[in-house]
Amino acid sequence: MDLHDANPHVHELVLHKGFWLINGIHDLDDVDQISSLETRDSDVFVVTYPKSGTIWMQQILLLLEAKGDVTTISKLNNLSNGDLIPWIEIKGGRQSFITASSPRKNVSHLPYHFMPSSLSQKKGKVIYVARNPKDVLVSYYHFHKMAKMLETPKDFNDFFEKFLKGRVFASSWFEHIKSWYSHKDDVNMLFITYEEMIQDLQAAVERISLFLGEELSDEELSNTVKHSTFSNMRKIPQASYEQVPGDLLDHHQGRFMRKGTIGDWKNHFTVAQNEKFEEHFHREMMDFPLSFIWDIK
Ligand code: A3P
Repeated sequence: MDLHDANPHVHELVLHKGFWLINGIHDLDDVDQISSLETRDSDVFVVTYPKSGTIWMQQILLLLEAKGDVTTISKLNNLSNGDLIPWIEIKGGRQSFITASSPRKNVSHLPYHFMPSSLSQKKGKVIYVARNPKDVLVSYYHFHKMAKMLETPKDFNDFFEKFLKGRVFASSWFEHIKSWYSHKDDVNMLFITYEEMIQDLQAAVERISLFLGEELSDEELSNTVKHSTFSNMRKIPQASYEQVPGDLLDHHQGRFMRKGTIGDWKNHFTVAQNEKFEEHFHREMMDFPLSFIWDIK
């Protein structure tokens, strides 16, 4: 029996102009019109490949806007981080962007060429969060088990192969990072890694607030840091997707805020898989300036 018959919530992946989207979640016409949207100087886009720390950056941006006051966010009608800083490519996202008041904040998993072309005139800001792709793969594997809209992988190796082939929503990790990083000087962009955020959250939050021009006192900054740690976010249902209905996320399969660590791939990859990954990584990233890349071992 086909998995789609078994689970009516699973949506097909659809290849659109070389990029895998999710049928039913993304509207292809809407996605096509994003590139012609007029951006404003005050617009902010958090851009990530899935599982790289999107919800984390949403939390930091929400807290910076609230001057570190977490109660301001929790008073917002029980809305999740994804409702408060929405995806521009999800159905209805483009329209909400047009009508939203400034400063507009959105997230996106889209590659550069789908995004508003006025970003290249430095109208608006982009925060690109990158994460070690080995840990992204592991996090994405677990997410596929709980996300009802995505096909449950047969096993880890099945997913490993799909990830390397880019046969997943958001396509190839390698293409995604190259697409954005190669425009880092044309776009008003802060490029930051998940690993930097883990290693020194205070320093990362300071960099982000400086980039956004948010002026916070030391106490407000330290409250922002405090309420964006993994353990504190886990306690807030809106900041950890614990309140997302079970027909979208199967909470029996695990938690969205799963581990929040560096190097969990070591608990999942076999020696052979690691070798294969490394070969693939070096082939894909050969002509690319790697100075920003963490030690992927
Ligand atoms: P793990 O599955 O490795 O735990 P995204 O929001 O892009 O889908 O990314 C989700 C990943 O970011 C999950 O990784 C999640 O636990 C991790 N994450 C979210 N908030 C975090 C935080 N405050 N500190 C560390 N990791 C965090």
